Amino acid sequence: MSQQEQWKSKLGFILAAAGSAIGLGAIWKFPYVAGTGGGGAFFLLFLVFTFVLGMPLLLGEFIIGRRGQSDPVNTYRKLTDNPKWSLIGKLGVFTCFMLLSFYSVVGGWIILYILKIFTGAFNGLTQDQYGALFGEIIANPLTTLTAQLVFLFITILVVAKGVQKGIEVASKVMMPALLILFIGLVIRSLSLEGAMDGVEFLLVPDFSKLTSESILFALGQSFFTLSLGVSVMVTYASYLPKKQNLPQSAISIIALNIVIALLAGLAIFPGVFSFDLEPNAGPVLIFSVLPAVFNQMPFGMYFFLAFLILFLFAALTSAFSMVEIIVAAVTKNKQEKRKKTTWIVGILIFVVGIPSCLSYGVLADVKLFDKTFFDLVDFAVSNVLMPLGALLIAIFVSRKVSKDVLYEELRQGSRISQSFFSIWYFLLKYVTPIAIIVVFLDVLGLFKWIGKLFS
Ligand code: PHE
Repeated sequence: MSQQEQWKSKLGFILAAAGSAIGLGAIWKFPYVAGTGGGGAFFLLFLVFTFVLGMPLLLGEFIIGRRGQSDPVNTYRKLTDNPKWSLIGKLGVFTCFMLLSFYSVVGGWIILYILKIFTGAFNGLTQDQYGALFGEIIANPLTTLTAQLVFLFITILVVAKGVQKGIEVASKVMMPALLILFIGLVIRSLSLEGAMDGVEFLLVPDFSKLTSESILFALGQSFFTLSLGVSVMVTYASYLPKKQNLPQSAISIIALNIVIALLAGLAIFPGVFSFDLEPNAGPVLIFSVLPAVFNQMPFGMYFFLAFLILFLFAALTSAFSMVEIIVAAVTKNKQEKRKKTTWIVGILIFVVGIPSCLSYGVLADVKLFDKTFFDLVDFAVSNVLMPLGALLIAIFVSRKVSKDVLYEELRQGSRISQSFFSIWYFLLKYVTPIAIIVVFLDVLGLFKWIGKLFS
């Protein structure tokens, strides 16, 4: 989409931004990081981070995006006199590039699952067999690489054509459909034997389960699911007309995102406990639990198929946003370069993603810092680069852009009061940066070290 182009409708922007936000983060990642990170306490922390840090940041990205009316790199240049700040945009572009290199691997798994349904492979297996089948599917280098390529191919095709607007129309049907299907799934899950143990795991906090690392994961997760810290929301907001109500858009996106994550958790954990599985199974969690839950429903495989298609759609709309900002930054919104750049970017992402794709097969034993390639890239993106980007954006918005400009931009299209503005500004200026720094330092062991000094 070029700079002059704008979203078709008010809803169009919300759907596109929500499309970027809702994806693998809420549906695939949330259940497994919550499962590993301590269940209810993790969920609560995730909510706190989302409201106290994520919401102000999302609004901040919207404000500077619409004000700058430019690509992710130039926006920062335009709003200050120091060109160094454009590094934030470059960091975001790099982060999205790395992110899509493993995101597309999981996108590929969804495609393989869709194909497998047609072979009847999921019919009537035992729980262990579902887990084993998934392991088998993702260990095959040739099929997983091909599926990753197909996922990227669809993404590139859509972004190269600049037809995201067509996606607005599809989103209007797909998003509500996903929501409805999820509700059906949750109802089935909740009626499984022993389901309440799963609900309790997700909703009742036990703070003794939290570690420094799980706190960092909750922080990373809240940014990840809202596509924050990488200037995606800045770029999407640059295509916005002035009449859009920014706070209202931010709140709708956050609410939708939390609802989806909650539904994903309520669909998965009852199954995990009912089938006696481990909640900390990691990235494979939903792929081994969901087929078993669907299998217990009448016409289960049809519903499973519908679910996977919607899940794929959700992952794709997030992937579009990642490629969109890379392309917007590289072409500086010049239409004639769009096609070629998009294809080159797509190919590079595929090449960089190959080791992540093979991490569940031939490269399973190759580890760096005790992590496979897949886990390492995921960790670096979600728990280091995104919070770092978020920190820099919070500093930029609150300290480098004049307060009057922010207030004026925020007021366009909304009747926000001065006190709302002050609270938002305070959160962004002090709370967000301090919280991110504290969580980082905590993980680096600084506080334990200080504690030891005084004991
Ligand atoms: N928010 C997306 C998801 O949850 C991931 C994403 C992160 C997309 C950053 C764009 C930028 O799946």
